[in-house]
Amino acid sequence: QRVLVLNGPNLGRLGRRQPEIYGTTTHDQLAELCAQWGTELGLAVETRQTNHEGVMLDWLNEAADDATPVVLNAAAWTHYSWAIFDACAQLVGPLVEVHISDPKQRPEEFRHTSVVTPYAAAVIAGQGIDGYRQALGAIAGLLPAD
Ligand code: DQA
Repeated sequence: QRVLVLNGPNLGRLGRRQPEIYGTTTHDQLAELCAQWGTELGLAVETRQTNHEGVMLDWLNEAADDATPVVLNAAAWTHYSWAIFDACAQLVGPLVEVHISDPKQRPEEFRHTSVVTPYAAAVIAGQGIDGYRQALGAIAGLLPAD
């Protein structure tokens, strides 16, 4: 079973971006970890990152067409993008929302809302990079047994 891990803006700089908040694992390392965690769960995981909202929308539309399960860290778009909201609404396969930090515990008011949560089967936040492992586990648990 194929699964997409989709990461939004500024997550390409993981490991260098505010490591006190987001840790020291790079995006390449995260992609490698997700592939390994997927293998343990019997999932073929592909991890992608973009800073371009239209590209993310194309990926979500592709996932909707193919009923591909999605682990989504929409980063800052989480908090204001109605286009991401609409794209998530169309998804057919399970959607799990992940955040490395816990946006609800952070001081900026704008982080306290999410356009993804209404369509997410699970939200994993504040678990660091391990949150992606937990999200993939949640996806595996949501898939019909075959
Ligand atoms: C984030 C939290 C968001 O508030 C922020 O805009 C990000 C990353 C996280 O993974 O903790 O870019 O989604």
